[in-house]
Amino acid sequence: MDKLLIRGGNRLSGTLPISGAKNAALTLIPCALLTEEPMTLRNLPRLADIDGFQHLMGQFGVSVSIQGKRPEDFGRVVTFEAQRLTSNVAPYDLVRKMRASILVLGPMLARAGEATVSMPGGCAIGNRPIDLHLKALEAFGAEIELAQGYVKAIAPDGGLPGGDFDFPVVSVGATENALMAAVLANGTSRLFNAAREPEIVDLCNLLTAMGAEIEGIGTSDLTIHGVKRLNGATYKVMADRIEAGSYACAAAITGGEVRLEGANASEMTATNNALRNIGVEIEEDARGMTVRADGPLKATDLTTAPYPGLATDMQAQLMSLLCKAHGTSVLKETIFENRFMHVPELSRMSADIATEGRTAIVKGPSDLTGAEVMATDLRASMSLIIAALAAEGETTVRRIYHLDRGYERLEEKLQLVGADIERVDD
Ligand code: UD1
Repeated sequence: MDKLLIRGGNRLSGTLPISGAKNAALTLIPCALLTEEPMTLRNLPRLADIDGFQHLMGQFGVSVSIQGKRPEDFGRVVTFEAQRLTSNVAPYDLVRKMRASILVLGPMLARAGEATVSMPGGCAIGNRPIDLHLKALEAFGAEIELAQGYVKAIAPDGGLPGGDFDFPVVSVGATENALMAAVLANGTSRLFNAAREPEIVDLCNLLTAMGAEIEGIGTSDLTIHGVKRLNGATYKVMADRIEAGSYACAAAITGGEVRLEGANASEMTATNNALRNIGVEIEEDARGMTVRADGPLKATDLTTAPYPGLATDMQAQLMSLLCKAHGTSVLKETIFENRFMHVPELSRMSADIATEGRTAIVKGPSDLTGAEVMATDLRASMSLIIAALAAEGETTVRRIYHLDRGYERLEEKLQLVGADIERVDD
């Protein structure tokens, strides 16, 4: 298995490209199940999770053709064609490796009238139940059966009637599943307290391009008028706001100046406000943003929340940055329990962090030191890389398959801006 070696101390400077958003891609791909016509996605990131999802689509009889396979290509263009579905079962072996497979449940149910998906197991960042996905589909008229670790959703003869659902907790995945099911329902469906992350807007925009009728896009109340059929479309995946935010933290912790080409700052307000409070300068323009940190970093308090609040997916990376800030910062994680798994590893790198429940108290600035560390989830892994870039000496990061799930060509991009990072065989 590969590991990453990082020698800290280099000031990052230059330009690095931002990829298509993993979390958007994972909900755009299953939209191919909603139509017999070809659906083409541009700017798909080259990531293990995307490969896994393409494989899953193949299991259903969807043909998948990929352009941009050359090693030097950033992003891919992939055409999915679900002319005839040969299966409506997502097996344990594929779902186990990729939680987002649950996102086939809604569109498959809408298209085929029936869908069976293995229940995703527990996950390093909390239990992550799927009850809201199932309740929303039930509200639309589906019957749900749970047996032998699988969930089976069945629509009445003639298709899903559609209905109303009020989310008791904001859920990105459940909103996505509900949207993809409602677009082909016989009637009108309404979602209240829906997630309104930019990835949801991206999903609504693709569905609209396919002929869906959705009102309230970008708000937490969505009205979906079901249509009889959807057409194919060609669509460009949005920029990855979490990747951009992660590299902004990387640039800032080294006191560097980095241009994030392709980042969409208008979708990053909470992250950019947090960075500005920490003392990082950010210049936004239509084609990207430039991050500069040439003064001392300041402590700040942060609380994660559903969009437009601060993304939980940025919490670990900002925590690393705050290790170098002057003063005491208090970070509250409100979305997932158990999302401080990076704290013991950061402590091994001489960070001063105490946790109590869902609160972490970071005292800085710490003289970070290189160490052998290992990460337990995607964003936690990135937080260790960020800390390593500012640490004295060498850091070895193991279990980097987490990073390969979510950061397209991580070490190449960091090398582009002057980081001393290499991937070696363990
Ligand atoms: C998505 C993102 C993930 C991000 C998260 C929150 C993808 C592939 N993943 O995950 O990177 O961290 O949004 O922004 O897009 N919940 C329930 N029941 C459910 C579903 C969720 O109780 O049926 C709870 C969860 O336990 C959690 C909260 O709702 O506490 C939010 O989770 P959710 O927004 O659903 O996260 P995901 O869609 O899994």
